[in-house]
Amino acid sequence: MAILVTGGAGFIGSHMIERLLERTSEAIVCLDNFNDYYDPAIKRRNVAGFGDRRQVKIVEGSFCQQDRMRQLFDDEDVTEVIHLGAYAGVRPSVEQPHLYQQANVEGTLCLLEAARQHPVNRFQLISSSTVYGAGAGIPFVEDAPLGMPLSPYGATKRAAELLGLVYFGLHKVPVVVLRPFSVYGPRLRPDLAMSIFTQAICEDRPLPLFGDGSIRRDFTHVRDICDGLLAARSADNVVGQCINLGHSEPIEIRRLIGLLEEAIGRRAKIRREPEKPGEMPITFADLTKAETLLAYRPQVPIEQGVAEFVAWFLQNR
Ligand SMILES: NC(=O)c1ccc[n+]([C@@H]2O[C@H](COP(=O)([O-])OP(=O)(O)OC[C@H]3O[C@@H](n4cnc5c(N)ncnc54)[C@H](O)[C@@H]3O)[C@@H](O)[C@H]2O)c1
Repeated sequence: MAILVTGGAGFIGSHMIERLLERTSEAIVCLDNFNDYYDPAIKRRNVAGFGDRRQVKIVEGSFCQQDRMRQLFDDEDVTEVIHLGAYAGVRPSVEQPHLYQQANVEGTLCLLEAARQHPVNRFQLISSSTVYGAGAGIPFVEDAPLGMPLSPYGATKRAAELLGLVYFGLHKVPVVVLRPFSVYGPRLRPDLAMSIFTQAICEDRPLPLFGDGSIRRDFTHVRDICDGLLAARSADNVVGQCINLGHSEPIEIRRLIGLLEEAIGRRAKIRREPEKPGEMPITFADLTKAETLLAYRPQVPIEQGVAEFVAWFLQNR
């Protein structure tokens, strides 16, 4: 019996494996292809904390290989899947949509097929707030109209969700869809605004601000996200559902810059750039469903989370 965590060398995946290790003695398979979407050395460092634990097996490979996945599920006797692996940036998906379609749609399908042939107890399919788009009501409610995604990334995540829900309906693969919102915390991906801003302020360089900084994001700490994913492992009545994991307190990007300035102790220099296509003006999670089904309540206030993140950044990057 093993829990398969895809994307286990990534930002959220590596936190999730550490949290699983605190709670279970089950075998954990960390599947990751250590791709170069960002520096693979960072991913190697992410797994360093658990790489030598006997309970964890690190498998280096792609979930886009159907035969290999079927074999992996059999060989490791996979009984649970936490599918975090993906190409996860909004803006690069505009330039490289094929990469996103292959990993996020085709790859998810390969895993669903493997889970159909080798039944599992639960299949957590980690989607994203980017499935909400133009026309969605605010705050975002899971079962209300989602609007039209604004990026290929969002479209691939929605396609993956739909495949998961179809595999539940058709083949009884016990899929639960989770939709995280703007996750941050230690080991944050270097391509995300919070990392880029922090680096620029620390180096006293101008930080690129797209638009006027008034777009709002529902930043959610990775500890809270992992709490939600841990609850979704065993919660009743969640199979076949889509559930938001956010903070439900969106803040403007310029407020984020202010919080980073405070934590770093230096004023930011700002280089204004035109708005980029593909970005939502606001993300805002309604958490009624997460509270009801997962007893999910985010615990980390943004001020505390940003201060902790900066402390980690100054020591580690
Ligand atoms: N970080 C966020 O703010 C956020 C928000 C919403 C949703 N998500 C979702 O959470 C998940 C994890 O995101 P993250 O921020 O940790 O990203 P990440 O890029 O740090 O982690 C993803 C991992 O998946 C791996 N991967 C990609 N394609 C693969 C393949 N074909 N085979 C094996 N491994 C592969 C990558 O090497 C990487 O280590 C993603 O599904 C993402 O869409 C993230």
